[in-house]
Amino acid sequence: MANGRRLRTLVWVAHHLESAEVVRDYVDGVTEAFEGHDVETAWGVDAFRGRMQGVEALVCWGWHPSVLEEADALEWIQFGSAGLNHALTPELLASCIRLSTLKGVHPLPVAEHVIAMMLAHARRLPEMTLNQSRRVWERQSILPAVRMVQGSWVGIVGMGRIGREVARKCSAMGARVIATNSRQASETEADEWVEKDDLGPLLSKADWVVLTLPQTPATTHLISAKELAQMKREAVLINVGRGPCVDEAALLDALRAGRIAGACLDVFEQEPLPDDSPLWEMDNVIITPHVAATTPDYGRDGARIVRANLDAFLKGEQMPTEYDRERGY
Ligand code: OXD
Repeated sequence: MANGRRLRTLVWVAHHLESAEVVRDYVDGVTEAFEGHDVETAWGVDAFRGRMQGVEALVCWGWHPSVLEEADALEWIQFGSAGLNHALTPELLASCIRLSTLKGVHPLPVAEHVIAMMLAHARRLPEMTLNQSRRVWERQSILPAVRMVQGSWVGIVGMGRIGREVARKCSAMGARVIATNSRQASETEADEWVEKDDLGPLLSKADWVVLTLPQTPATTHLISAKELAQMKREAVLINVGRGPCVDEAALLDALRAGRIAGACLDVFEQEPLPDDSPLWEMDNVIITPHVAATTPDYGRDGARIVRANLDAFLKGEQMPTEYDRERGY
């Protein structure tokens, strides 16, 4: 235990996935990391109630807006996700509580999910799966629509760790990458670069526009009617970042009018995607329910990140995945 401090810690699992093995791995790994501290575990959406007094470190999986009402000693919240937009109230942002994310678990599974979506769309898997469920052997309507990822242009908006992993996998498949400038990436990680505030050249070149962005004021509705109009008619929009980065009403218009060829979406303006969303019925749309980051190792890998954050927290240093209030991620 660095500096001999014994942190009063609550590990709180609010999420409905609480029985899943990944969550158990996470809780076990975190509990081990906090050995020697004063740790309690609480399971259930409301289970924080009556237990927040004196808690200095909250390690949570899921969220409830009332958590802060009962917190009187809280110094650090470790979240169970990469994006924190579900929890960031003005009150929390204005507080001195340090916040940290689970960024770092995501690049590999999210990049695989992007590739799965691309290939599913290119090889027309949704239609064929539907035909399979009806025992239909149908080639004629499928053959003209099949495409290749090899040789296509992939436009990546957001070259953080996830975007760069997508770029690496796409390049390995023989696609070319055009991406937004990034301090983290090296020159060779894309074939062409564009400025973040001028997406035009990327949108007009890419066959696949992949969004791997956090939600910040600058990225909210970054892709709207104007940007969709700049995309090619054969292009497909893929969003695995945050739903509000895309103006969903404008996307629906573009899809209905055939201004773009399709969309593969893991995230939505409202989640779960409402029952009456027209997106459900569009045959050029692939919908997955915010699962891109899923991996059997999420819990174990996540706990390793928490351990590194704890070490830094106790030393009074910047945590490796500390949320930066200025940058908004
Ligand atoms: C996350 C995600 O933020 O999976 O962790 O979207």
